[in-house]
Amino acid sequence: MKTILTGIRANSELHLGHYLGVIIPMTRLANKYSKDYNVNIFVPDLHSIVSEIDGDLQKNIVRTIKYYLAAGLEINDNIHIYRQSYIPAHSELCWILNCVATMGEASRMTQYKEKSEGRESCNVGIFDYPVLMAADILLYSAEYVPIGEDQFQHIELTRNLATRFNHKYGEIFTVPVKTADQVKFMGVSDGIRIRDLLNPEKKMSKSTKAENSKIMLDDEPARAAKKIMSATTDSLGKIKFDMFNQPGVSNLLQIEALINDRPLQDVISDWAGETRYGELKKKVGESVSTMLTGFQKKLGEISDDEVFSLFQSGEDYANKVATAKLLEVQRAVGLRD
Ligand code: TRP
Repeated sequence: MKTILTGIRANSELHLGHYLGVIIPMTRLANKYSKDYNVNIFVPDLHSIVSEIDGDLQKNIVRTIKYYLAAGLEINDNIHIYRQSYIPAHSELCWILNCVATMGEASRMTQYKEKSEGRESCNVGIFDYPVLMAADILLYSAEYVPIGEDQFQHIELTRNLATRFNHKYGEIFTVPVKTADQVKFMGVSDGIRIRDLLNPEKKMSKSTKAENSKIMLDDEPARAAKKIMSATTDSLGKIKFDMFNQPGVSNLLQIEALINDRPLQDVISDWAGETRYGELKKKVGESVSTMLTGFQKKLGEISDDEVFSLFQSGEDYANKVATAKLLEVQRAVGLRD
């Protein structure tokens, strides 16, 4: 059985960009495919500690899984939920892959460049981040890794490391599919990237100071709708999907389509010929506030125990699969007989 795998860091409360870009697409994929695929959803807690953590990591981890459940994830035996640090094989494979990855390719990763630039010191974990990510994926022979556009480079690196390893040591790893095909599998025309509401050229980010730039998942629904009303648009006066010239309007159309699970093209057609941005904002604001109301209600109904019991069975499964793959790797490189 093939595997679909994804993870999301639990460093803070998540925002609408995470929800629409990762949680929702992954939940829909899981519900659609989990009869025929293994679906691994894990919390990369080792990746969390490379940078600041807002709040309590343990609480954040549990909350992250609750987000999937509140988004409608339907649990069955093929869905595996686990914490990265509870599966020691991730760190061990990371080390072995460190000996396959080059300084050059790791230094070229945009995320590393952005996070290290202009800083006096940058921890080695930030540099090694994508290699650990490759281990996360390759241990489970995952072919599909639904993920935000900003992580595509890391998938390509994973493919390169797997191919190089296989070339040197034999066919041990399944190479995940190309990012272009990941996108097709996810059923989106392009990587999903929800924009900052005030500066729509940039992606929505939790580190942006301005409160009206982002919608957090714990925002009061009415307040979230107000943020949409104050979103930056443009002065072109036409409702069109054009991320380059009209990123603000395009972002609103994208949000509207994703929240209501409608093809972007249909939403674009609905608004074609319309000129009143206020009307569009009102509609999107309502969609966001309705979504948050339902989501927050469900979130409140999920207990910590429910999540811990998912971890228990998921970690049993993950340890079995990952340890077996690690042993193959250890044998291939000569660490085991
Ligand atoms: N880097 C991802 C993020 O930014 C998290 C992550 C870690 C991940 N390892 C992964 C995602 C493996 C998919 C597959 O949230």
